[in-house]
Amino acid sequence: MLQRPWCTRNTLSSKPPFALACSCNTAEDFSKILKAKGCSDPEKLVPELEKEVERRQHVHEERRRHQLYVAEEYSRFHPKIFTLQSSFLDPRFCEMVSHARKPDCTADDLKAYMKGLQMRMYSFPVFTPSFCQMFVEELKHYETSSIPKFQAASMSKFAIDLGVLGFDQFLSDLRTAYLAPLVKVLYPDWGGDQLDTHKAFIAQYKEGRNLDTSYHFDNSEVTLNVSLNETFDDGDLYFGAMRGEESSFHTGYSHQLGRGILHRGQQMHGAFPIMEGERYNLIVWLRSSRIRNQLCPMCNEKPKIKAVENGFGDGFTLDDNTV
Ligand SMILES: [Fe+2]
Repeated sequence: MLQRPWCTRNTLSSKPPFALACSCNTAEDFSKILKAKGCSDPEKLVPELEKEVERRQHVHEERRRHQLYVAEEYSRFHPKIFTLQSSFLDPRFCEMVSHARKPDCTADDLKAYMKGLQMRMYSFPVFTPSFCQMFVEELKHYETSSIPKFQAASMSKFAIDLGVLGFDQFLSDLRTAYLAPLVKVLYPDWGGDQLDTHKAFIAQYKEGRNLDTSYHFDNSEVTLNVSLNETFDDGDLYFGAMRGEESSFHTGYSHQLGRGILHRGQQMHGAFPIMEGERYNLIVWLRSSRIRNQLCPMCNEKPKIKAVENGFGDGFTLDDNTV
């Protein structure tokens, strides 16, 4: 029997199915799972999967060490942007969020502030152009600094982990004060008002860089993707159906400076390569332990988890609420 190519990010690959090796998995039964998925020689893949589980389970400690190092050694270019201020936000976004905070607000009430795309995707202005400019300047300053860069599990080689760079509080404030009220109205079934963690990074695209922009789903309940600059050509996003759904649905989305698109993490999507210039996008994976504790969004199994110190980990919670 021919070995089946694995569908890891909905693209065919000869690599082992690393979605199985997510940090919620204790790697007890890989052989059995692989067999059930049609793998003819699971024993070949098990050691690699076990190694990946081990790496993912310890990446949080490594990340924390790196975060402390950056806090000590990195000199910030725009120190003021590390604390969220309402002046960084587009006034229309602030107005929409104050509407969303009203107890009886419905998705229809927010229509005037956003472009309702298909499949429950929404696009709206988030940041002012001047904030975007400062943000990108800070990112370039960090990139060209001598600080060794941290590569998080599951992130592209060219992604910048914003928690490591020092934006943890900024992003927690953005999540709790602004994004949570919107998600409560727009996605009550995907975390609603119980978004308790996030993972945020900058996706950076440059011509000629070997980026993984293939069709995939996110490790999030809801994702916000905001464009921070305009100096690129092409690079549009494309969206399809929800993961696992049989549907021919597809649609495109073009970036605009400071504007964000909000979508469900399990909605399949990808990005076309850029033809010229460079692109910086803020990606915020919003997570709700209430949802993911039932079923891990990556491996589709009931998570078996270990406590993570100093950080959100992958957003699961133990009984005592440690994540
Ligand atoms: Fe994504």
